[in-house]
Amino acid sequence: MRTVIKDGTLVTASGSSRADIIIEEEKITAIGRFAPGSGDRIIEASGKLVLPGAIDVHTHLDMPFGGTVTADDFTTGTTAAAAGGTTCIVDYAIQAPGSTLQEALTAWHKKAEGKCAIDYGFHVAVTDLNEKVLNEIPALVKKGYPSFKVFMAYKGVFQIDDATLLKVLKKAGTAGGLVLVHAENGDVIEVLTGELLAAGKTAPLYHALSRPPLAEEEAVNRYIAMAELSGSPAYIVHLSTAGALRLVTSARLRGLAVYAETCPQYLFLSIDRYSEPGFGGAKYVMSPPLREKGNEDHLWAGLRSGNLQVVASDHCSFNLEGQKDLGRNDFTKIPNGAPGLENRVQLMFAGGVVEGRIDIHKFVDLVSTAPARIFGLYPQKGTLAVGSDADLVIFNPEAEFTLSSTGQYQNVDYNPYEGLRGKGKPELVFSRGTLIFEHGKYAGTVGHGRFVPRRPFNII
Ligand code: URP
Ligand code: ZN
Ligand code: ZN
Repeated sequence: MRTVIKDGTLVTASGSSRADIIIEEEKITAIGRFAPGSGDRIIEASGKLVLPGAIDVHTHLDMPFGGTVTADDFTTGTTAAAAGGTTCIVDYAIQAPGSTLQEALTAWHKKAEGKCAIDYGFHVAVTDLNEKVLNEIPALVKKGYPSFKVFMAYKGVFQIDDATLLKVLKKAGTAGGLVLVHAENGDVIEVLTGELLAAGKTAPLYHALSRPPLAEEEAVNRYIAMAELSGSPAYIVHLSTAGALRLVTSARLRGLAVYAETCPQYLFLSIDRYSEPGFGGAKYVMSPPLREKGNEDHLWAGLRSGNLQVVASDHCSFNLEGQKDLGRNDFTKIPNGAPGLENRVQLMFAGGVVEGRIDIHKFVDLVSTAPARIFGLYPQKGTLAVGSDADLVIFNPEAEFTLSSTGQYQNVDYNPYEGLRGKGKPELVFSRGTLIFEHGKYAGTVGHGRFVPRRPFNII
């Protein structure tokens, strides 16, 4: 049976048009004006936007971290993603010490296989490098894993040294891979943390004070220098400060292939959240931490100018009760991370397009097209085109919403944006031609989502 989406406003990163879309099996097979045939399923979309399914290239589902495991697994996380208009994620398979990258991937495939509502891929996080591990990289690029992550923070857990960073950059760069970096100086953070704890400063606010903007900016600067030395492209995840953005901007002006993502939390929330009454500040314990008000204006400007290319969620959910409260008496024991997968698209539409900070095409680019292009999914995903996967969102730009943990699909006991109001809701979500979300209700089958191998990095 064909599905005909009639008379919607089709929005891509490059333009808008009023047209019909025909879906057959898993693909978009025609875009234009069509007389429906008998047996066609007709979806009326006049007055609605038809968007390419959003792509979230920074999630952590079923991840052991901070002495516990994320509250969302691949089923709850990808269902929440679908509810929010996201039809593909790229999660992180993290190398355990002493194991290989392939072993990490095998473990993460096992967590995801048969459990996903939407399609998924994996970046590979390198935490324990040796020759054998380094030499796995080219084959992994060829097998559909062209992106590798390293952490310049989380000392004693994931943190790598500069030699590792340089070696991974060189190897990945020559193999067609892209290296993603968590850029904060873990050694600096360790010293500052020790000083704060010794002074009895244990509340959630001190998490932020132990990780000042300069700890991020020093690492961004160092990473860009390493990337330049190696001649490889570079990607910085969850960039949070105006100073870090200036470094990226100046590197790009010098012609370096440096890319960066930011996340809604750095655009919508600020450091004052850590002073919420009781232990409420723990909801926002994430790394990098929330920043002083004012940074967000620079980040929005970076999104507009193209110096920041991607908005991803860094979804890494932990319940306040039973997980975040591990650190009630010591901020270093609060598991780092916050939920965001379900709300990213709506936040960017309401806070970005409706508020006049970005136009609708930039919005589509940031949440779907640019991530698809940078991470080797385009044009299979990330656009509306004949031959692309029929990952589509019928979006009502006028529908009002109030974000809340009540009724959310994310399996976590709070929402960092509780009470935030705006306009714009996904009404119908299609994943490869299958309707998976319909007017507020998940309508898909868990296990529908499948692994998508990605192509090597290509400069954009
Ligand atoms: O606090 C965060 N961001 N938790 C997830 C792990 C990471 O650093 O991305
Ligand atoms: Zn990180
Ligand atoms: Zn992350």
